[in-house]
Amino acid sequence: MAVRVVEVSPFDLVVFGGTGDLAARKLLPALYHRDHAGQIPAEARIVAVSRRPQPDYAAFVRDALARHVRTQDLDAGTVDRFVARTDFVALDATGESGWDELAAKLAGDPGRVRAFYLAVGPELFAPICARIARHGLATPTARVVLEKPLGKDGASARAVNDAIGAVFAEHQVFRIDHYLGKETVQNLMALRFANTLLEPLWNAAHIDHVQITAAETLGVEDRAGYYDTAGALRDMVQNHLLQLLCLVAMEPPTSLDADAVRDEKLKVLKALVPIGETEIATTTVRGQYRAGASNGAAVRGYAEELGRGDSATETFVALKAQIANWRWAGRPFYLRTGKRLAARVSEIVVAFRPIPHSVFDGQAGPIAANRLVIRLQPDEGVKLWLMIKDPGPGGMRLRHVPLDMSFAEAFDIRHPDAYERLLMDVVRGNQTLFMRRDEVEAAWAWIDPILGAWARSGETPKPYTAGSWGPSAAVALIERDGRTWNEDAS
Ligand code: BG6
Repeated sequence: MAVRVVEVSPFDLVVFGGTGDLAARKLLPALYHRDHAGQIPAEARIVAVSRRPQPDYAAFVRDALARHVRTQDLDAGTVDRFVARTDFVALDATGESGWDELAAKLAGDPGRVRAFYLAVGPELFAPICARIARHGLATPTARVVLEKPLGKDGASARAVNDAIGAVFAEHQVFRIDHYLGKETVQNLMALRFANTLLEPLWNAAHIDHVQITAAETLGVEDRAGYYDTAGALRDMVQNHLLQLLCLVAMEPPTSLDADAVRDEKLKVLKALVPIGETEIATTTVRGQYRAGASNGAAVRGYAEELGRGDSATETFVALKAQIANWRWAGRPFYLRTGKRLAARVSEIVVAFRPIPHSVFDGQAGPIAANRLVIRLQPDEGVKLWLMIKDPGPGGMRLRHVPLDMSFAEAFDIRHPDAYERLLMDVVRGNQTLFMRRDEVEAAWAWIDPILGAWARSGETPKPYTAGSWGPSAAVALIERDGRTWNEDAS
């Protein structure tokens, strides 16, 4: 199937952390794919920046592409063209060396789109922005892209936002949440707002509850240093899971204009019922993995990966969120995420209410409620679970089957990585899929009391075996309400 590609304006993309893991695994491959697709104009340049000198950045780029782009997508001519766009400057983010060289490289057309991608620790955001300003690089068409984590609580997020806001106006700030760039997340918007079937049912009168799961099989591995200061609540729930919750729960925006969408998401975040000291034990579960098995191989526990046994950082969270508004009152959103779980599955399950009365006799079997399952990964697609009659001439027996739309089968195209869309949106200046400052702060305002209550409880995360579905308390959390986690996933 041919995909329409519209070339973006010429741009200079400056990647701080240009020799890092994110650049190698995600940013360079994503830009390569867009180049290969013909979306990047001839004049566009990518300037990687890093503290340590890099004598052969071209070799770094070639190696990153060889490792992280599928062989069938690697085209020698495009690789050469792409490598020729890249450049490197050794620069001290907290000192003065290298900045004049960067400024000299960027000199030229002041109206050209210029994006500074900060793929570095958040402690460097403020010093880098200050120097961007001091060297006159914050032109009116400049924009800054921030990777998470954006703070570790509301107060630190405000401090980071203030420092960035001193240099860049909000319309120039692109806070990445790569979940928003995922194909199926986009499809959630299409499902809800490009069809008339679902929207009339999309409320407490017809929906029983919603589940959002982001399960990973990987452990923290070499990210333990960062991860131990964060934990699953900050790393996944504060951003990715709450963003998904917002897209499911928000009112229809008047358009896909960035502020129209973000205004609606903000209202959802503000309507989240606070979880404090008294609710913490019944509405949240946190866990930490112990040694076990993953994909058939023995794996170490979190403490061994970290190199110490005294960490109270959670690698798993399950919680029950409530939204206090007309559309959702009384209809919980169950969220769960964790490392080293039994399978890699991210999905949103919209569980509809059971039928009010059955006209069938006992022979027909149980009647399960409808479910809409939006699978983000792997096997992206949408399944609508319905009851049908078991085929055949016998009596009326019912069966629960999915109306199954697997995107891989339906569309014969490579699924772009989230970063491809997001990077092009940065160049286009489209902020719809990026978090606005007030959204980030509202998310922290809901997360902070949970962190506080956990800290004061003096309890440690519940252990779970690597390769399981997390602590049994997470099953109890949902089963206490007479519901179960979606069986397709667990
Ligand atoms: C990142 C988290 O934001 O998302 C990681 O920091 C996590 O800990 C990752 O592994 C998950 O992303 P994805 O796209 O693989 O679901």
